[in-house]
Amino acid sequence: MTKLSKRLHTLAEFVCENDQVVDIGCDHGYLSIYLKENKLVKDIIASDINPNALQSAITNIKNSKLKIKTVLSDGLDNIDVKKINTLIISGMGTATILHILGNQEKLKNINKLIIQSNNDYHILRQELNNKGYYLKDEKYIYDKKKWYVTSLFVKSPQKNTKTEIAYGLLNNQEYNKYLINQVKQIIKKIPFIKLDIKVKRYYQLWQLKKAISTTK
Ligand SMILES: C[S@@+](CC[C@H](N)C(=O)[O-])C[C@H]1O[C@@H](n2cnc3c(N)ncnc32)[C@H](O)[C@@H]1O
Repeated sequence: MTKLSKRLHTLAEFVCENDQVVDIGCDHGYLSIYLKENKLVKDIIASDINPNALQSAITNIKNSKLKIKTVLSDGLDNIDVKKINTLIISGMGTATILHILGNQEKLKNINKLIIQSNNDYHILRQELNNKGYYLKDEKYIYDKKKWYVTSLFVKSPQKNTKTEIAYGLLNNQEYNKYLINQVKQIIKKIPFIKLDIKVKRYYQLWQLKKAISTTK
């Protein structure tokens, strides 16, 4: 049985048995194998842009004796998305993720995105709202001395609030403390002569604390 890291397991917690998934940037393929092995999804395609990464997935899938389709592809370019309703994209930066989600035509039937970006979460949330995806849930986990944000977006005309776009859903006390601490660290590093910038950051800190205190 495949055992996932805490980080990869968070992605698996967002799938449902009716999901027909592409694991974009599957690398080793562990997540795809785990989802198929445990019958957590209806179907899954494992895909990667890098032939070496995909070969590693192909070898691991072969060893697992499971039937999982693999595709060499830049994002969705070579993938037949007719039956696909869910994408998992994890372990990349927001710029790459937005590049992958750039083809609006291919997203027509995709009603669920499970995303673990490495950076620029506010840009990701804003851009996905613009594309018609609403941030419905978010899990924050601390794994191997790092915080990871895993986001569930669903196709919906609903928009997230400005605070949700800026800071996320703020539903984890420990992560909230980390966010506050991050802003404090930034303030500390701003020299006193740059008073206007310091004041802006203090305002941001006040806004963040207020948002946390009003989030249920
Ligand atoms: C750091 S690995 C993450 C692997 C796995 N998703 C995880 O979270 O552990 C990033 C993977 O994304 C792949 N990748 C990067 N850009 C891509 C793109 N445009 N389309 C498909 N795969 C891509 C890389 O080749 C690499 O295998």
